[in-house]
Amino acid sequence: MSWREEAKKRAAVEAVKHVKNGDVIGLGTGSTAAYAIKEICRRIAEEQLRVLGVPTSHRAALLASDCGIPLTTLDQHPVLDLDIDGADQIDPELNLIKGKGGALTKEKVVAAVSKQFIVVADETKLTDALGKKQLLPVEVLPFAVSLAKSKIRAAGGQPVLRKKEDNSGPYVTDNGNFILDVDFGVIEDPYQLQQQLKVIPGVVETGLFLGMANIAYIGTKTNLNVMKRTR
Ligand code: A5P
Repeated sequence: MSWREEAKKRAAVEAVKHVKNGDVIGLGTGSTAAYAIKEICRRIAEEQLRVLGVPTSHRAALLASDCGIPLTTLDQHPVLDLDIDGADQIDPELNLIKGKGGALTKEKVVAAVSKQFIVVADETKLTDALGKKQLLPVEVLPFAVSLAKSKIRAAGGQPVLRKKEDNSGPYVTDNGNFILDVDFGVIEDPYQLQQQLKVIPGVVETGLFLGMANIAYIGTKTNLNVMKRTR
């Protein structure tokens, strides 16, 4: 395993130590969150841990149900005990960019209704400023994609429609929408940008997760660091 995979796994295993019997857990999407899902499965099998999971994507749902996490929905459990998810970029205040895996909208809903949102990542995700060498994913209705692009350009971004890996057409989210990956350069005021983007007709959600994460476990080459949100 490469040091990055080791680091992601170390972070995920530490985060899963927060999980207690009876918890309802948000199950994140991406390669780091997958280590957390597998660790929850290991604890179910070896420690008879009793939990329910709310997946943030079809991928997370399949992995979780295949390895033995009983699933539930937000209709049945509108408040979750904790959510464990990855990130694409993490600033010193624990503001995040998410959505490289395309699951940002459900990820944001699940994070928002969780009493505790724990981020798991390797150290390459740390930045001193969101948007630095990082595109911001924005989920948009296919019907409104051209309109959304021109409004995003007016807001100072360079949007590119995300394509499927085999380049056979636009990438489609679990919600049936498209993703615009937007280059804003360094995002000086992420709260203002979030407001600007959310009022564009056809924009469903952005990958800015601001003031949401409580703790981040960051796997480094040899160790594990903990970051906590102070405000
Ligand atoms: C999924 O939509 C994303 O928000 C992921 O959480 C993010 O891309 C992190 O993925 P990795 O853990 O695979 O880097």
